[in-house]
Amino acid sequence: MLGWYDRNRRSLPWRAAPGEVADPYRVWLSEIMLQQTNVVAVIPYYEAFVSRFPRIAALAAAEEQAVLSLWAGLGYYARARNLHACARIVAAQGGFPDSESGLRALPGIGAYTAAAIAAIAFQRPAVPIDGNVARILSRVFMIDLPLARAGRILAARAADLGADRDARARPGDFAQALFDLGAAICTPTSPDCSACPWRDGCGAFAAGRVGALPVAKERKTRPLRHGVHFWLEDGQGRVLLRRRAPEGLLGGMSELPGTPWRAAAWSDAEALAHAPAASAWTKAGAIRHVFTHFELHLTVFVARIGAINPDEGFLAAIATLDAQALPSVMMKCVRAAQSATDMVAMPAPPPHSARKKAAKERRS
Ligand code: ADE
Repeated sequence: MLGWYDRNRRSLPWRAAPGEVADPYRVWLSEIMLQQTNVVAVIPYYEAFVSRFPRIAALAAAEEQAVLSLWAGLGYYARARNLHACARIVAAQGGFPDSESGLRALPGIGAYTAAAIAAIAFQRPAVPIDGNVARILSRVFMIDLPLARAGRILAARAADLGADRDARARPGDFAQALFDLGAAICTPTSPDCSACPWRDGCGAFAAGRVGALPVAKERKTRPLRHGVHFWLEDGQGRVLLRRRAPEGLLGGMSELPGTPWRAAAWSDAEALAHAPAASAWTKAGAIRHVFTHFELHLTVFVARIGAINPDEGFLAAIATLDAQALPSVMMKCVRAAQSATDMVAMPAPPPHSARKKAAKERRS
């Protein structure tokens, strides 16, 4: 496996070159971003973060809104809030703890991330089990359980692998070799077994069951929710935004004012009772967004008035909306509002080309 990795390793911006010592800050930052998002979507966000916050002290000193704005589009925003809280603790402590248990005590770091950082940044003999690694293990060891129910056996098998002499000599490379094998060879569909360094020891390959493992999880249908949001523009090219509650879904992020999101569809009259100002509202369009636990259908209304009284929010220049902490679902509403009107000022395109990919990838 390590020989395969030496020949085939991906060059990734957070990855130390062979022989170089990994920077714990960069390893941690990348692992938090990679928790629920794929490598391609993460790269531009990672680069934006390290260029704005080259060291953990800079991130610790930042305003939370600056962190959320830079994170906007990457999804799972609790990660950004925890990232910031964690940076403050680590900066105050003078560095990251170098053990799995020390790392786990920090905000936003669970078992997987603690193992990944311990292995990659501190060469601790830990094997992080993410979805890719679980898939590899389920095939190699023929684990006939849905992955969600296989936690204990996966952990035991991973520990066996990590105890191997070669793996113990290079824990960080071993972990990253598993990530790369899962990304390039042992893929969910059509794995390339002919190129796999573990083919000879793979139970599923020997049994002809590679396509059957891991066992598919039961599909749940997502409930549908409905909402209506309002694009209210003033005569100076500004739009009314408000900030969401600090906790919960999209906590601390910005949004267009709107109705709650609920199971029943909204009639226009009912929705307009939630509009930020009495005005001549026009229906601009509708968007759809998929979160982990529900699907959301939003209708967008637009109106223009001379001056807005920003009682329950704040005004943002339309030309600088990309610098706001607007999650992808709200950027969809912004685009719906924009494309349906003849408004002159267009917001700049999303800050990172990855926004769309991240939105697809994201499930919350
Ligand atoms: N997935 C999670 N962590 C990763 C890493 N460090 N490199 C590549 N893919 C990953």
